[in-house]
Amino acid sequence: MSKQTVFQIDWQPVGRRVESQAGRSLLEAAQSAGIELAAVCGGDGICGTCRVRLMRGEATPVTPEEQALFSHEELAQGYRLACRAFPRSDITLDIPPDSLTAPQRLQLESKTIEIKPDAVERTAFGLAVDIGTTKLAAYLLDLRAGRTLAQAGAMNPQIAYGEDVISRIAYANAHTDGRQILQACLVETLNQLVRELCVDAAIEREQIVKAVVVGNTAMHHLFAGLPVRQLGEAPYLPATREALEIAARDVGLQLAPKVHIYMPPIIAGFVGTDHVAMILSTGLWQPGRTRLALDIGTNTEISLAAGGQLWSCSCASGPVFEGAHIRDGMRAAPGAIERVQIIHGNVHFQTINHLPPAGLCGSGILDVVAELYKADLLDAQGRLRHARGDKGFVLVPASAAGHHHNIVVTRRDVHEVQLAKAAIRAGTEILLRRAGLSASEVDEVIIAGAFGSYLDVNSAIRIGMFLPLPRDRFRQVGNAAGAGARQLLLSAAQRQLAAEIARRVEYIELTTQPDFTNAYVAAMHFEGDTGCAPL
Ligand code: FES
Repeated sequence: MSKQTVFQIDWQPVGRRVESQAGRSLLEAAQSAGIELAAVCGGDGICGTCRVRLMRGEATPVTPEEQALFSHEELAQGYRLACRAFPRSDITLDIPPDSLTAPQRLQLESKTIEIKPDAVERTAFGLAVDIGTTKLAAYLLDLRAGRTLAQAGAMNPQIAYGEDVISRIAYANAHTDGRQILQACLVETLNQLVRELCVDAAIEREQIVKAVVVGNTAMHHLFAGLPVRQLGEAPYLPATREALEIAARDVGLQLAPKVHIYMPPIIAGFVGTDHVAMILSTGLWQPGRTRLALDIGTNTEISLAAGGQLWSCSCASGPVFEGAHIRDGMRAAPGAIERVQIIHGNVHFQTINHLPPAGLCGSGILDVVAELYKADLLDAQGRLRHARGDKGFVLVPASAAGHHHNIVVTRRDVHEVQLAKAAIRAGTEILLRRAGLSASEVDEVIIAGAFGSYLDVNSAIRIGMFLPLPRDRFRQVGNAAGAGARQLLLSAAQRQLAAEIARRVEYIELTTQPDFTNAYVAAMHFEGDTGCAPL
């Protein structure tokens, strides 16, 4: 019998089936197939980031490196290091979300929409938009088939006027035409996205006859032309909480004539229609298991579902995970360090598109802090051990950096992460207390949003940002708000459901909670009641 020299490798859930020469590791096979598998140590078998699960077929025997990195249970389930395993037959592999590093970072993907579309009389198209503080995501759908035909993303151009919601409200307040300027630049970019979508799907924009827009309350108001001053002052009330139907031409969005844009109801001043869409698409509204959902951004919205009830809050987590307020921070662009491990005192990292490192993006920043803490290079207060003055920890020396300058993590950088993680953890703790639950009673934690898709959950647990629960209780779902917007576009029943969700949610304003400050201060540390001991 002749020896097989080429194997079929079926990569799931990315759905790629490629041939690979015998003698090539699974990591090499992934790289030549353009599958962005994480490989922080560059294939040395020590970082454990290239893990895949063998679902069908045969590979070379488990190596000592794999025995050291996987539990017996994981090995029995077929987990392997892609850099250490070589196929011996045609195989099918499952790539866990943590092991994938996609090159584009606008994060449009989410689950496939499985909604029965409303009947439409002819072939017609619809537009669903998620307006984030930092990023915009737009989707073009075939309304009859319920299918997404094209998707496009862009940075929110309002960033030029303020990086977070509060500074944009301040800009609108300080300038007589501030709101109009913010609305106009946003709509201009949305019109560009519509053009891109139409080119992709080979249709005319006049064929877009329905539209849905979701966003946080400030983005919602700025898009719809509503006043925002009151959103910046306690008690942070929206101008309206009702669902809106506004004429596309009134805001300057170029679609078919007479199209009205549906905007679902708002929960509160800092929990907007994007969160309603997220609750809708993740099924959090359904009674059953106790579940927590977090949409992490410059503002993080958190919802808890338990015993048929829903509670939501919002906390200011800041732009640190967008790479802002960090000495060598940058947005998630090519060359950004997105994964970091410190193994036996040596720094291993991976950059987007495998380019020479230029700085740290959000997931890299989170990893660095978690790894410094694990390596005992940070104390419980977040002070860098062995760092002198402001010099900080040199992550990448100038000789290895793309721009020939040291890439450094400072005490101030760590402090920015502490502020963000403390806000998120304290918000989580307050919701649990309101529901009378302990952390261990949470059956599932859903992580949505762009940063939430790329972060390493273990790092977030290690620094105490997430509850110390088993890893398999966490689910990263991508742009769940974008998925919800598409559901709302397709079905009137989904719009009714959204209205019911917004009505049912009990909003918790954290700043008025007497126990919030204590929870926040406790969560600033890396260990203790709301911090987290090293894993
Ligand atoms: S790349 Fe495989 S263990 Fe690091």
